[in-house]
Amino acid sequence: MKYNDIRTTFLKYFESKGHTIVPSASLIPNDPTLLFTVAGMVPWKGILQGTEPAFAKRVADVQKCIRAGGKHNDLEEVGFDGRHHTFFEMLGNWSFGDYFKEGALEMSWDLLTNVLKLDPAKLRVTTHISDEESTELWRKIAGKEAIRLGDKDNWWSAGDTGPCGPCTEIFYDFGEDIENEDDRWVEIWNDVFMQFDKDANGNLTLLPKKNVDTGAGLERWGALLQGKKDNFDTDLFQGLIRATEDLVGVKKTEENTPSFKIIADHLRAVGFAIADGVIPSNTDRGYVIRRILRRAMRHGQMLGHKGALLSKLYPALITEMGEAYPELEKEKTKVIEIIQNEENSFADMLQNGMKLLESELPKLNTKVLPGDVAFKLFDTYGFPLDLTQMILRDRNIEVDVAGFEKAMAEQKERSRADTKGTKTLWESRTNLEDTQDGFKYNPETKLESKVLSILRDGQFVESAKSGEEVEVALDKTVFYGTQGGQVGDSGELLKDGETVMIVSETNRVNNVVIHKGVLKSDLSVGDVVEPVINSAIRQQTARAHTAAHLLQAALRQVLNDDVEQRGSKVSPDSVRFDFSFGRAMTTEEKQAVEDLINKWIKEDLPVAHEEMPLEEAKAKGAMALFGEKYGDTVKVITAGDVSCELCGGTHIYHTGEIIKAKINKEKSISSGIRRITMSVGNLAE
Ligand code: ALA
Repeated sequence: MKYNDIRTTFLKYFESKGHTIVPSASLIPNDPTLLFTVAGMVPWKGILQGTEPAFAKRVADVQKCIRAGGKHNDLEEVGFDGRHHTFFEMLGNWSFGDYFKEGALEMSWDLLTNVLKLDPAKLRVTTHISDEESTELWRKIAGKEAIRLGDKDNWWSAGDTGPCGPCTEIFYDFGEDIENEDDRWVEIWNDVFMQFDKDANGNLTLLPKKNVDTGAGLERWGALLQGKKDNFDTDLFQGLIRATEDLVGVKKTEENTPSFKIIADHLRAVGFAIADGVIPSNTDRGYVIRRILRRAMRHGQMLGHKGALLSKLYPALITEMGEAYPELEKEKTKVIEIIQNEENSFADMLQNGMKLLESELPKLNTKVLPGDVAFKLFDTYGFPLDLTQMILRDRNIEVDVAGFEKAMAEQKERSRADTKGTKTLWESRTNLEDTQDGFKYNPETKLESKVLSILRDGQFVESAKSGEEVEVALDKTVFYGTQGGQVGDSGELLKDGETVMIVSETNRVNNVVIHKGVLKSDLSVGDVVEPVINSAIRQQTARAHTAAHLLQAALRQVLNDDVEQRGSKVSPDSVRFDFSFGRAMTTEEKQAVEDLINKWIKEDLPVAHEEMPLEEAKAKGAMALFGEKYGDTVKVITAGDVSCELCGGTHIYHTGEIIKAKINKEKSISSGIRRITMSVGNLAE
């Protein structure tokens, strides 16, 4: 039975038992505790916990999953046996408060033995040590005596917290000729009885309902239904392996089999993850995908192949899996471009890093690679630690991981010391109070501010003289200190109505606003001054900031809703905006974005500045920057009905104040990230 037929048979069976069939959810979970969707139940966590209504009582699907880089991690195993994958498909059926143990076990057994006609003699079952009921049910339904195991084997949860419960697993005997017990008896289905919710302290509370969560690895079903002992010998993987043979010009042999398996596996993980919107990067899931891609390239290299690999194999993935997953074809251009970018940037590093490694190995007296060498490979050649470990695995050499981590920590310390400038000096002033800077939103306020600290030539001083360059902290200010991508104000400090300091730059260290500039007369700690900003420049910055919000809204309209801000710099009349997008924008797209912004400027839309609780802002649909943390009360900037964002920056009140917007450049800054520079106001004109 081919993969497409297995998927259909499974879904049809559960449809006939009253289940609603749904398509796979994204590999990117809506759950901050997980890097990827690791199981079919991940999209249903809210339903299981009772925070989301169940749209049906019985549901079945085939879910895309990745188990790499998190609690469920199979990355290191892949390639060296026939049943581990980073990406795999999980067949699953759910009961949300409907049938429970009996219904679940009856259907699992019926499908396996009556529909798929597996020989019951080849099946074994396990139950949780506490689960009398399932143990008894297996006797009744299948005439099987379950093997009873503890939490390690028969208790299931997706993460360290969340829905969980005891489970019962069904194993298939792949043949007594297989020596390794784990390869012989392979788990082909897991039925979990989700009844509990686990909190961060490990406490279990009952979920509102008793639920069933089942998961069966499609690839394992593929092997057993196609009479193979190895998942990679099934039709789908054979297709991918043949495509790899054609590309690298080398046939699969017993010796190089792990490389072929790893490439086929990693092609699926990388291809599907990027199609779902993951961008290779240096953090979180982006880094897991980058690592997987680099491992695949290393195996391409071992097969004698140079340069682009997965980007060239992606069409084969569409051939094998595009029918079941149309997103592969839909996102083809984007995915190939992102993979190509990654491959281009790593290809030379891989060659050079291997040279370094080969030159180091003869120097070893033990079977351990020093941590600083592994770190150099990481830092200079982009070798993730697990890549180095994988390369050395064949030669039975280990990496001194503690040494690697130490080298990494030392480097972090060095780079901290490099930037040790006045910022660190200010940080050392622990007795300094936070600056009251809420006045920045009403900069015309006349303040009587007290000078709290003066920093001159790397030293805190009690007073400084006219002509000296200093940094000054006040108890309160109307100045906006550089933050959230918006550059700070300039202006002056007045003493008795006269300019005492020209402020050319305003920074922020923690919550202290630091005014930097040159003194026009003497200044002492304790003096009372009036901070006054340059309002013309402030206006230029404010209109650029509002324009940046319009730019984001326009990009999402013209390109797609997935465009996300990845960084920005807002300066007087100019905007630099980084966003996630997998290819260069066309001239037409750039024009369309610019036209849309100018249309909104012409319409002179009102810009509302509001404060509200975070929940209310979210309900209003306000966009928040990925990874930013906001307090309970947030500022929300809304321009007409085109843009609504959480933002602590300063803004104008009508879009007409922007006057004009002009896109100057659009370019790539790293794979999957584009940068636009745009002028507004007088500069654009
Ligand atoms: N959630 C269970 C698993 O992934 C079914 O094994």
